[in-house]
Amino acid sequence: MKIGVPRERFAGEARVALTPASALQLQKLGHDCFVEHDAGAAARFADADYAAAGVMVVDSARALYDMVDLVVRVRPPEPDELAQLHRGQTLIAFFWPAQNPALLEQARAQGVNVIAMDMVPRISRAQKMDALSSMANIAGYRAVIEAGNHFGRFFTGQVTAAGKVPPARVLVIGAGVAGLAAIGAAQSLGAVVRAFDVRPEVAEQIESMGAEFLLLDFEEDGSGSGGYAAPSSPEFREKQLALFREQAPEVDIVITTALIPGRPAPKLWLADMVAAMKPGSVIVDLAAERGGNCDLTVPDQQVETDHGVTIIGYTDFPSRMATQSSELYATNIRHMLSDLTPGKDGVLVHDMEDDVIRGATATFEGSITYPPPAPKVQAIAKARPRAPEKTPGQLKAEEAAAMRRTGRQQLALLVAGGLLTGLIGLFAPPAFMQHFIVFVLAVFIGFQVIWNVSHALHTPLMAVTNAISGIIILGALLQVGSPDGLVQLLAGIAVLIATINIVGGFMVTRRMLQMFRKS
Ligand code: NAI
Repeated sequence: MKIGVPRERFAGEARVALTPASALQLQKLGHDCFVEHDAGAAARFADADYAAAGVMVVDSARALYDMVDLVVRVRPPEPDELAQLHRGQTLIAFFWPAQNPALLEQARAQGVNVIAMDMVPRISRAQKMDALSSMANIAGYRAVIEAGNHFGRFFTGQVTAAGKVPPARVLVIGAGVAGLAAIGAAQSLGAVVRAFDVRPEVAEQIESMGAEFLLLDFEEDGSGSGGYAAPSSPEFREKQLALFREQAPEVDIVITTALIPGRPAPKLWLADMVAAMKPGSVIVDLAAERGGNCDLTVPDQQVETDHGVTIIGYTDFPSRMATQSSELYATNIRHMLSDLTPGKDGVLVHDMEDDVIRGATATFEGSITYPPPAPKVQAIAKARPRAPEKTPGQLKAEEAAAMRRTGRQQLALLVAGGLLTGLIGLFAPPAFMQHFIVFVLAVFIGFQVIWNVSHALHTPLMAVTNAISGIIILGALLQVGSPDGLVQLLAGIAVLIATINIVGGFMVTRRMLQMFRKS
């Protein structure tokens, strides 16, 4: 299949849907790649880099559309760009079918199959294709950097000879992908971070990043379906605004990311809260594209109030880090194409039974297939139904009952084991019994140690089992030269199993250590 990537025409858009690195991967799937000249220039990928990666550089978009079967891009095409595509061609891009009904109808009428990257369902298997999350992650990080650029102080608190500097206080509203990225970036710069979200299940994530979750004393679960929020009740909203009003004079930087898909952004940071902020404070409104979470946001602009609060409403944060966002977007596209090419033979299989492909398909073979049915598997962040809270008395009684049960089971096991050992002792030779009792005790102690160690400590435990495996290997090596065939066989098996244990232990430990490596 021939894949073509045109230059993005949207003013200020610097991203590109293919990088030289992703082109190499697509070629391994059996595809040939083509780019319009200068398609990657704004993201710092030169035509020569593409050519070196085996990509053919084409002079014009029209020539490109004529020679390829599949067009991949970042932004939705303008109607005149879409008009250049042919029946049976596939287009993969951010398409926003709900916001672009005319474009959707045009694609249907032209017989173009559209896969909208913004429609990839939020299920675990599709995370590697979730371009919205990749872009939101970048936007969250960049929001903190932009805020820092306009904020006249350090993020981290300092005590210097010239005086004491308090840390910046950052409030993040909406802890989805962008919000969590912003929390991570602000924390790593040393700010004191607080965050609020209507979905209670994100509290743990916020706290695990070292930020404070602002708790609202109100019984309402704001979780909707698909890992997104549901609209709040007016009473909840009032409580939420009261909480923000309290925060306004204290915080230096506010980053708002609150969004419910398919709706205008909720207004959460009102004009009076802006007025209550200290001069020099900064608000970054990531929801600017959908009207903004702040009353005073002007989309695509940075404005300053009379009393010196800067409000940033840029809608192109990912494009401001075009190299990074192109790399991540191109990787999302590569994963999507890998699912669309199951045979790795360059043949596109548009499987409408596949949850992810079906979910992202907006038009297919002359029909509009948007909106898709709900995915068969659950969304990643869907809240687990919560069991009713138990009183401390109930918890104590349950714990005592569980301990009694375990105690009874252990006693029964001990009695049965003792009887069995006694029975064997009646018939077996004394030399065997001596070894056998040591063996039984070793098994018993080993079982107790492993069973009572929490899962989190299983990796250090593996180091201990590796040491034990070493002793087993030593013993088995001493026995392997025995004239008895059975002893040789048992010693051989012992060496094999202990070796598997040791090698496996090293492999798991290596993977664990890699998780903590920065690059
Ligand atoms: P998301 O859906 O993962 O996160 C939104 C969060 O807002 C959710 O956790 C939701 O529970 C929360 N929320 C909804 N209503 C709320 C309320 N009333 N109060 C508090 N929290 C509330 O979305 P994601 O991917 O993190 O994107 C966040 C925003 O950033 C979106 O508006 C998106 O369009 C925007 N964005 C902006 C970019 C830019 O360049 N300006 C680039 C990428 C994303």
